[in-house]
Amino acid sequence: MKNLIYINACMKSGSRTQMIATPIIEELSKKYKVETIDLRNNIYPVVDNSILEDRNQGIVPPEHVSIARKIAAADRIVIAAPFWDMSFPSALKVFFENMSLFGVTFDSNEKECYGLCKAEKVMYITTRGMNIGTGDPLEQATPYIRALSHLWGWGELTVISARNMDYSSPEEIEEKIADAINEGLEICKEF
Ligand SMILES: Cc1cc2nc3c(=O)[nH]c(=O)nc-3n(C[C@H](O)[C@H](O)[C@H](O)COP(=O)(O)O)c2cc1C
Repeated sequence: MKNLIYINACMKSGSRTQMIATPIIEELSKKYKVETIDLRNNIYPVVDNSILEDRNQGIVPPEHVSIARKIAAADRIVIAAPFWDMSFPSALKVFFENMSLFGVTFDSNEKECYGLCKAEKVMYITTRGMNIGTGDPLEQATPYIRALSHLWGWGELTVISARNMDYSSPEEIEEKIADAINEGLEICKEF
């Protein structure tokens, strides 16, 4: 069975984003061996000067290297993260920084960096409070994930989103979540 890494950055209990992600992951677990990385426990440190000095001496926490290797080797990646401050929660950025390891998720030659990750497809699931669609210049999560995909070598990015969640009635929210789940389940057939 091929491997899928599910990065869960849904920080809030009762997360709407997670309500969409859970059935999609359940569906994908029929064809992939799913490993979940749960970022809600805030276990990754901000990459500061001491971490950089360690890295310069080749010292990286072995458990971080191990997860970065799994990310590099995964066949598929799913990221679930709500829209926060026009992007995604910092826990996810901090996680990415800890996983962005030279020689593991990316490498470089004399001219440029190139990715070492093999996932051909990445799915990003989100919900947004305001009425901001994917690709809107105000939406800075997708462009970041796309740029990181370039650095790490990830392939096609599919975004599943529900929007205007903070200005919709409970019935509308329920409908938006159901629509996003259906869209995601449809995408699962080709993912
Ligand atoms: C800390 C925080 C920051 C947020 N920032 C934004 C924002 O910049 N733009 C926006 O449209 N919604 C913003 N929202 C609203 C969320 O995107 C929206 O409520 C979303 O559905 C929450 O997803 P969740 O239920 O999965 O946590 C923010 C919510 C929180 C808690």
